[in-house]
Amino acid sequence: MRHTIGFYGAGNMAQVMIAGLLNSGFYQKEEIYVYNYRYEPTLKKVKEAYGVKVVSEEETLFEQTDWIILAVKPAVLLQVLPRVKKYLTEEHVLVSVAAGVSTHQIAALTGPHKIIRAMPNTPATIQQAMSSISPNELVSSEQTQFVTEIFNSFGKAKVVSEENIDAVVGVSGSAPAYVYLFIEALADGAVAEGLPREDAYEFASQAVLGAAEMVEKTGKHPGELKDMVTSPKGTTVAAVQSLEESNFRASIMRAVKAAAKRNHEMSEET
Ligand SMILES: NC(=O)c1ccc[n+]([C@@H]2O[C@H](COP(=O)([O-])OP(=O)(O)OC[C@H]3O[C@@H](n4cnc5c(N)ncnc54)[C@H](OP(=O)(O)O)[C@@H]3O)[C@@H](O)[C@H]2O)c1
Repeated sequence: MRHTIGFYGAGNMAQVMIAGLLNSGFYQKEEIYVYNYRYEPTLKKVKEAYGVKVVSEEETLFEQTDWIILAVKPAVLLQVLPRVKKYLTEEHVLVSVAAGVSTHQIAALTGPHKIIRAMPNTPATIQQAMSSISPNELVSSEQTQFVTEIFNSFGKAKVVSEENIDAVVGVSGSAPAYVYLFIEALADGAVAEGLPREDAYEFASQAVLGAAEMVEKTGKHPGELKDMVTSPKGTTVAAVQSLEESNFRASIMRAVKAAAKRNHEMSEET
């Protein structure tokens, strides 16, 4: 059976997902409904940009669609759920992208429903997201497969147990920021050696992109790929030694753990 998809919220994340669903051809514009609570111009913009159906009543969204993507900020989600609970039926599947709100917290406000927690990251904007998918016990394997396809439409998605979501935030949710720092630092180093700034960013970002694709496409262990480019007495081993002396790997591990810890704290605060 073909499902209709409803977006509760029309902000950045909702629009990225709508674009992914339409651009990949996985969904047609007439199968997507969008509701936005406060701000009418946002809805108008979404209708014009994507041609999807927009609704101005919450109730209509729940009547017209069986898969609801909850794309509002965590605090808003906690306010909204008690209000929309009355519109939920057994057919509905709730997919929340709100950071730090667990499927248990959602179920505590809605009652027992099929709930999926998903954690995309910002490269979703260019359809290169890495998303985790964590279904609760009421979600079937077909429904898990279906939601994975939704998130695959704007990148890659993988099912993980919800208890690992803090680690996912550390390794992919927050990771684009660490990679931007790395690219900036690579470029600064090259600028210090005389390369023009614009060239430096281009060389640095393409080096990161190419290396990431090597890991993806060759399937080789990152250590093996490092060994392959590290010749005796060469330039690369000199740089690797310098990084090791500054605890590069330990710093990254600490950063991942810090993001995971903060995500855990945030889920306790909501
Ligand atoms: N952006 C990302 O890359 C990313 C990545 C992972 C997870 N997320 C999660 O995605 C969710 C949405 O983030 P976003 O970046 O898309 O946020 P956003 O651009 O600020 O959009 C939030 C949406 O919520 C609506 N809203 C605000 N207050 C509301 C209320 N009181 N009742 C109902 N709707 C309300 C906004 O409507 P108005 O237009 O009327 O203000 C807007 O449509 C968040 O929970 C975030 O944790 C985002």
